[in-house]
Amino acid sequence: MSSNPIDISVAMMAPQPPLSNSVRDFIARKPRLLINGEWVGARAGNTLAVFDPATGREIGRVAEAGAEDVERAVAAARAAFESGPWPEMSPAGRELMLWRLADLIDRHAAEFSEIESLDNGKTRFMASVIDVPGARDYFRYMAGWATKIEGTTMQTSIGGIPGAKFHTYVAREPVGVVAQIVPWNFPLAMAAWKLAPALAAGCTCILKPAEQTPLSALRLGELIIEAGFPPGVVNILTGLGETAGAALVAHPGVDKIAFTGSTEVGKLINKSATDTLKRVSLELGGKSPVIVLPDADVDAVIGGAAMAIFFNSGQVCTAGSRLYVHSKIFDRVVEGLGAAANGIRLGPGLDQATQMGPLVSKEQQQRVLGYIESGRKQGASVLAGGEAPSHPGYFVKPTVLVNVRPEMRVVREEIFGPVLVAQRFDELDEVVKAANDSPYGLGASIWTNNLSAAQRLIPRIKAGTVWVNCHNMVDPNMPFGGFKQSGFGREHGRVAMDMYTELKSVCMLV
Ligand code: NAI
Ligand code: MG
Repeated sequence: MSSNPIDISVAMMAPQPPLSNSVRDFIARKPRLLINGEWVGARAGNTLAVFDPATGREIGRVAEAGAEDVERAVAAARAAFESGPWPEMSPAGRELMLWRLADLIDRHAAEFSEIESLDNGKTRFMASVIDVPGARDYFRYMAGWATKIEGTTMQTSIGGIPGAKFHTYVAREPVGVVAQIVPWNFPLAMAAWKLAPALAAGCTCILKPAEQTPLSALRLGELIIEAGFPPGVVNILTGLGETAGAALVAHPGVDKIAFTGSTEVGKLINKSATDTLKRVSLELGGKSPVIVLPDADVDAVIGGAAMAIFFNSGQVCTAGSRLYVHSKIFDRVVEGLGAAANGIRLGPGLDQATQMGPLVSKEQQQRVLGYIESGRKQGASVLAGGEAPSHPGYFVKPTVLVNVRPEMRVVREEIFGPVLVAQRFDELDEVVKAANDSPYGLGASIWTNNLSAAQRLIPRIKAGTVWVNCHNMVDPNMPFGGFKQSGFGREHGRVAMDMYTELKSVCMLV
């Protein structure tokens, strides 16, 4: 237990408030999978428990998809792709479907925020301003791409047939049946990031939410039916990664895998997908640096760096988990961050007074605490947090570690929790080297008011996104993905259509 006098997290801990009737009814529904437009039980009859991370209590059960269910879902998606209303539908028809779905998400926004908070642990407030409107807007943005897919015509110089002329063009066609495996940190938003571009492109989908957070995907499935998507266009399989997820990756009837999750599983998926040469896009882990130059506004840095690591309890792939501050302002920044960490009010996500919720699972809590312990053992000092509060639920106090060295596990590995490691630097070359000294390359932020310094630094940082004087900002129109072992492929924007289409060159002798 921390003896810091401004640590109010334990005193403020409140019980999880009661659920709304609609959410209570929803989680009481029979465990089921969405296959071919119908809700069906898992063939083998197995189920998985769903826990409330704020209390550790089981709140319901969902179906556990097995091999037979994967077969059924792939067959339904294949049939929907090859025949029936989906391939016949015009791009404007697909656009309309996606808009209808977005409108339904909007209509049920409060319910989604509650479900997301209950299932993942995040605050209902954050779900209501980030996750839910983000998912809604993502469907709307991608809806627009359905009608804007285009190809090119080319001039060719094909020899061999004297006097021959050719009409040559490239068409884009949907890649086919796509299996989409998503993590638990932003369950609804991740489902949207996957489904929306695939559907806009004309693909059919099998979505597998994370076993820790299956609920919002199931509610989304209900709205997908309500919006009028033809049967089999979206299938939703709740289940385990090692079984249902792995079966989807290996299945010859699946054309593409889109995955967001750990680098470890990303590598497994990439290997397994090789056997059938599936298209693969991977959005994996990160260990994103936050680089603070000596001229930066100290107060802005403290607030920004705290959000960069503590937002969503640090369970963000682009979390700013490595802080590098110039020696001139290091002490002030780090002291401010320690105070900010100690002032964050922990509690159940559904409680209005909560500023930071629990981690998603017991396993994740233990993993994060294990990292903190390894940091201590390797000589790091705990400036703030460093432990779980004494109440139930999967909480970890916002933690700042100092006196860390580059070779420590807490500096090298993705912790995926509210744990920041802070280091100082003097020279720009030194911080560039340190920032890039990571197998990951997902995000980075630079904090300075010196435009020239920022512009010179940006090309030297190996990351898929570089933010300046902000962190974790995403937009559907801004490509998102990683360098190095943070994955490959980019989501969002025009490039998302490339991920879900194949090029077909047509060469016609005229
Ligand atoms: P994970 O990578 O195992 O899970 C993500 C998704 O992959 C889930 O839907 C899971 O069911 C599925 N999956 C797991 N094994 C699979 C397999 N063999 N084949 C196909 N699908 C599979 O992540 P996990 O175990 O929940 O978290 C462990 C660590 O991974 C975290 O501590 C964090 O460091 C990292 N992680 C990173 C995320 C990111 O967005 N970058 C998201 C989630 C986890
Ligand atoms: Mg795993």
